[in-house]
Amino acid sequence: MKFDNELSIIQQKIANGYAGVSRRLAVMNSLDLEIGQNVIDIGCGGGHLVQEIALGVGVNGKSIGIDPSKDQLEAANNRCKNLNNVELICCTADKINIENSFCDRITSTQTLEYIEDIDLSLNELRRISKKKSKFVNVSILWDYFRFYGPEKKLNDIIHEAFRAHCFHQMLPLDLVGKLTNLGYQNIQSENLSYLITNRDENSPAIFYEKMLAKFAASMGIKEDKIKDWQAQISKAEKTKKFGFTSFPVLTTAYLI
Ligand SMILES: C[S@@+](CC[C@H](N)C(=O)[O-])C[C@H]1O[C@@H](n2cnc3c(N)ncnc32)[C@H](O)[C@@H]1O
Repeated sequence: MKFDNELSIIQQKIANGYAGVSRRLAVMNSLDLEIGQNVIDIGCGGGHLVQEIALGVGVNGKSIGIDPSKDQLEAANNRCKNLNNVELICCTADKINIENSFCDRITSTQTLEYIEDIDLSLNELRRISKKKSKFVNVSILWDYFRFYGPEKKLNDIIHEAFRAHCFHQMLPLDLVGKLTNLGYQNIQSENLSYLITNRDENSPAIFYEKMLAKFAASMGIKEDKIKDWQAQISKAEKTKKFGFTSFPVLTTAYLI
């Protein structure tokens, strides 16, 4: 899935609200930053985390964000325009124009699952990592990403179509072996799952609903089916039968 135009705006709204704030808190805690460090955020989107990292490492440190989407980088540029220790690079994670062993921390949120040849990118991230650097990743267990409320058959059709939106449905499970093979140690996984029962502007549910609807249309699902699914979600919310679950996992590891 490409995070351009309307999709980049929907994605940034998710990053602005509960889902984005709570996972950034977990990532920032885990990064355990020190003044003067060099930190990179892979797939930085609208730059929320890049901004927080820049403040965390101070003027002698560096906060780098990379993303292949020009729309996302434009938003990140706007957000970070007053920070001198930020560098934003338009590229993919498999080829980053940064010297070997430059980064003290490598982080990424809901991005690695969108990269088809993930091994190539993980090798590149290892190349730019210092010895003893920390890797902090959040990826979603997409099998547990689900709306509740609509009638099951229709709901299954929309969710089944959405599976094609990313390459790796259950990346946190594969990541442990991949990192071990690359020489990482002390690999740990933390559960960041949540249940949402409302669809206000602070809730990721309303924006993910738009994302699924848009994606389903691009996969050839008929407009009336998609509208029906959305109407059923709306009705379920009114009758207090609505739910939305997501299961992000925070994976941390050290390069030895
Ligand atoms: C769901 S968004 C997450 C953005 C941000 N990390 C956040 O949590 O708000 C995924 C981002 O990964 C970027 N992306 C997709 N493929 C990528 C790749 N191969 N290398 C780096 N970033 C990529 C997309 O452009 C998009 O901005």
